Amino acid sequence: MLTLEGVTKRFGGLTAVRAVSLDVREHELVGIIGPNGAGKTTLFNVVAGYYRPEEGRVFFAGSDVTGRAPHDICRLGLTRTFQIVKPFGNLSVVDNVMIGALTRTPGVRAARSDAERVVDACGLAPYATARARALPIALRKRLEVARALATRPRVLLLDEVMAGLNPTELGGMVDLIRRLHAEGLTVVVIEHIMAAMMRLAQRIVVLHHGEKIAEGTPAQIVADRRVVDAYLGEEFVLAQA
Ligand SMILES: Nc1ncnc2c1ncn2[C@@H]1O[C@H](COP(=O)(O)OP(=O)(O)OP(=O)(O)O)[C@@H](O)[C@H]1O
Ligand SMILES: [Mg+2]
Repeated sequence: MLTLEGVTKRFGGLTAVRAVSLDVREHELVGIIGPNGAGKTTLFNVVAGYYRPEEGRVFFAGSDVTGRAPHDICRLGLTRTFQIVKPFGNLSVVDNVMIGALTRTPGVRAARSDAERVVDACGLAPYATARARALPIALRKRLEVARALATRPRVLLLDEVMAGLNPTELGGMVDLIRRLHAEGLTVVVIEHIMAAMMRLAQRIVVLHHGEKIAEGTPAQIVADRRVVDAYLGEEFVLAQA
């Protein structure tokens, strides 16, 4: 469904992503972890068309989409969320989601009814008319997911949608992502919260200094020496024991 072949992205002298290859199958739920600055968000930016890689190719649903514009890639069915959520603060929740819906559904009335459905599915119905900027972080993260969903993706890239949530909110987000996946969506999640990742991901990819250093099931990843050294740390291993 989504294939990266030797993707490299540099910023001046800094190689943020180095020769990363990756395959995401249809209906898979893949996690990406790694320390701050590992290149996770940059990888999403390359896949979703925000950055053109210096080397390598990105294939989505059978097409080479390397260097295509974000709105083209979105139209093909791949959408990402932003780590720093940026809703239109003055607009209501449902209007924010409607902007996503309008990429698919011309016609304001149809787009509004699409948006209302997505708002409901994301547990945001009670806040539909609230201004986006008035929402607490957990609901803003949900709104970010809803905006992306309204573009009707086949592949959804989620960049730290669980950061800053309390345990209850975190559980709610895990449930939402699982439900979307169960309904047929292919999902790639970047997340630092390992407990959530362990519950979600079928497969985890580990980035470190822009390189893929490991890939496997959650159980394989927490037992991988290089991953423990680079990212998880001994405390994590002891806590798991
Ligand atoms: N637009 C940019 N211009 C220059 N350097 C950048 C740019 N975007 C990212 N970088 C650098 O590329 C590297 C990878 O950054 P990236 O944001 O992809 O990391 P990340 O794994 O998402 O980190 P975090 O967990 O903190 O979100 C970092 O060294 C970062 O400073
Ligand atoms: Mg990031």
